Amino acid sequence: MELDEVETIAVLGAGNMGHGIAEVAALAGYTVNLRDIKEEFVQNGYDSIEWSLNKLAEKERIGADEAEAALDRVTPLVDLGEAVADADVVIEAVPEKMDIKKEVYGEVEEHAPDRAVFATNTSSLSITELSEVTDRPEQFCGMHFFNPPVRMDLVEVISGAHSSDETLDLITELAESMDKTPVRVRKDSPGFIVNRILVPQMNEAAWILHEDAATMSEVDSTSKYGLGLPMGAFELADQVGIDVGYHVLEYMHETLGDAYEPCPLLAEKVEEGNLGKKSGKGFYDYE
Ligand code: CAA
Repeated sequence: MELDEVETIAVLGAGNMGHGIAEVAALAGYTVNLRDIKEEFVQNGYDSIEWSLNKLAEKERIGADEAEAALDRVTPLVDLGEAVADADVVIEAVPEKMDIKKEVYGEVEEHAPDRAVFATNTSSLSITELSEVTDRPEQFCGMHFFNPPVRMDLVEVISGAHSSDETLDLITELAESMDKTPVRVRKDSPGFIVNRILVPQMNEAAWILHEDAATMSEVDSTSKYGLGLPMGAFELADQVGIDVGYHVLEYMHETLGDAYEPCPLLAEKVEEGNLGKKSGKGFYDYE
């Protein structure tokens, strides 16, 4: 498929990443079907897109008419079959668990047209393993956005063992058409490039706190004023979701070894439901 044949994009999962990707796709002019398993989840995602578009318009990053037109292009849906039935590209952003993603792909394969290309927004999981659940592993690759998608320029385009050049070229061009800067990742290894660097940094920050070697604000000050990063390690963990970082680490620990052992503080936060900004409380309090 060529980029100019792409009209409809189905985005599966309306959480932090899913709704952000849907917003980016709608701003680029695509018709977007945003799907989640419950009415409440998909409505929250839709409301977040509306909030974000209004914020962008308020800050004059886009025009008010552009914001309105983008929102009009998004259809919130619960029915998976309906969401993917006329999709040219399916971007999946469901929770970062191999079994959940595999189950979703099994269902998507039944309903999506043969031409549809599948792109997973997984942060770390094996693209090859996921692609093998479908009957079209050559039409499958990684398309990894960063949080918040509407503000972050990078997209990792990751090749699985079976991804065809045509698929990788299409997804690279698709990212460019969304005003993003794609980086091709040749090796399908856990965490790809960004999370291989970033998530261990979050983990080390948590170990420092766990060992009582520094406070959160001391650690965050060093990230911002020493390393020149836009956010402190704890601020960023709250932004991306502590559960997301934790699941990536668990997978890296399992596949890459003990250097990636998650700090128990992260597990505690996840168990307590203190996941970061999205739950109102993480390392910091947002209520
Ligand atoms: N849509 C629209 N507006 C948004 C927004 C969104 N999704 N998210 C935040 N904003 C708004 C804020 O509400 C704030 O508005 P107010 O000023 O009215 O309060 C405003 O944007 C802040 O924007 P600024 O440009 O003034 O602030 P900034 O220069 O600090 O930029 C940022 C914000 C781009 C998020 C910047 O802090 C940044 O780059 N942070 C690092 C993010 C990062 O590293 N993300 C990658 C995480 S890793 C990942 O996602 C991968 C994974 O798999 C785990």
